[in-house]
Amino acid sequence: MVVVKPSIPWKNLTQRSLLKNFSPEDRYWMKEALKWALLGEGLTSPNPAVGAVLVKDGTLIGRGYHRKAGQAHAEIEAIEDAKKRGETVAGSTLYVTLEPCSSWGKTPPCTERIVKEKISRVVAGSPDPNPRNKPRAVELLPSLGIDFSWEILEEALFLNRGFYHRILTGKPWVIGKIAMAIDGSLSAGVGEERWISGIAARTMAHRLRMIADAILIGAQTARADNPRLTIRLVDPKGKIQPWRVIVSRSGNLPGDLFLFTDAFKERTLLFVKMPWERVLGELGSRDVGILLVEGGAEVLHQLIKEGWIQEVSFFLSPLIIGKQPLEDSSTDASFLSMPLELVNPSWQKFDEDMYCHGLLEKGARFLERVRVEYAQ
Ligand SMILES: NC(=O)c1ccc[n+]([C@@H]2O[C@H](COP(=O)([O-])OP(=O)(O)OC[C@H]3O[C@@H](n4cnc5c(N)ncnc54)[C@H](OP(=O)(O)O)[C@@H]3O)[C@@H](O)[C@H]2O)c1
Repeated sequence: MVVVKPSIPWKNLTQRSLLKNFSPEDRYWMKEALKWALLGEGLTSPNPAVGAVLVKDGTLIGRGYHRKAGQAHAEIEAIEDAKKRGETVAGSTLYVTLEPCSSWGKTPPCTERIVKEKISRVVAGSPDPNPRNKPRAVELLPSLGIDFSWEILEEALFLNRGFYHRILTGKPWVIGKIAMAIDGSLSAGVGEERWISGIAARTMAHRLRMIADAILIGAQTARADNPRLTIRLVDPKGKIQPWRVIVSRSGNLPGDLFLFTDAFKERTLLFVKMPWERVLGELGSRDVGILLVEGGAEVLHQLIKEGWIQEVSFFLSPLIIGKQPLEDSSTDASFLSMPLELVNPSWQKFDEDMYCHGLLEKGARFLERVRVEYAQ
């Protein structure tokens, strides 16, 4: 039994019943496959996180997940696992959280192996929009006599939102993150040691870094806080350090910042006088699926105002600092013409701090478009 929690809780992301077209048995096994997919969360980029289970006569005979780009896909892991257990794969049902690939990438097409192993039924939980897959498994497998069915699972779409966004738009899915005192102050003092949030909330923030391929800050945050932007409070599980991105108009940054001098200095990018569209396009071309923007206020305000942010993660702490209220630090005082409501917001408590998470309409609409368009 695998017990894995998603880095962000799913329960409030949708009001729809996600698995209603599945039989109770299909529902059970797809949930099991999703648990396996989660083990790869944040580790598989530029590939999606995928889990699979093989079931025969109501019994699990194999399971697996995609661990890292270049390594076996989840379907192959599940087949190999079944073989190791001495099980006969022919005639089994494969539950896989993403439509199997039908093209050569770093590994052979999974559809080929499914046919070779005489798997009789495939149930998929989300589409694979990679244009290399021609024809896609949804067309190919039925034409080869394999029963193919699916329900688009919003959990699976959400898990791979960075993959979908990068493939379909060329730009990363952007998560805006900020920590705030209850009076709106965003800064407790000088240096990264002067935290607003407690340790439990900061651990959650490092879990967000775990799912990111890049972390972006404004130059003023770099100058004021000298942050490292590394994954420290959670086990990085061999994850490559996300890109660390600084944006600046002046290019005026001290050379001795950790971002320029530490062990990961090769993973730091400085973009000077680059419009946001180009910054995001540049990161997309570097295979960044999820971009975590960690402030400050000026940068976040611009990205929200221009509609580049899909998801937000706010930490609220019971502190009155009286320092920097949540106002635009640039000249444009009211940066939105009307308030933005979060879609399906969720609140979680981390010790004394509160964590608010939700999608902006842009993000929710994007996932809905994938669900509808690729369900065909
Ligand atoms: N509570 C939190 O979660 C949190 C998180 C981060 C930061 N902070 C705090 O927030 C403060 C800094 O925030 P801030 O709002 O003043 O500044 P900021 O957003 O961190 O950085 C602003 C700077 O970013 C550059 N910049 C802004 N827009 C740009 C654009 N479109 N293109 C290129 N460069 C651009 C400019 O750099 P140049 O000046 O170099 O041209 C600008 O001065 C710090 O005190 C920090 O401690 C708090």
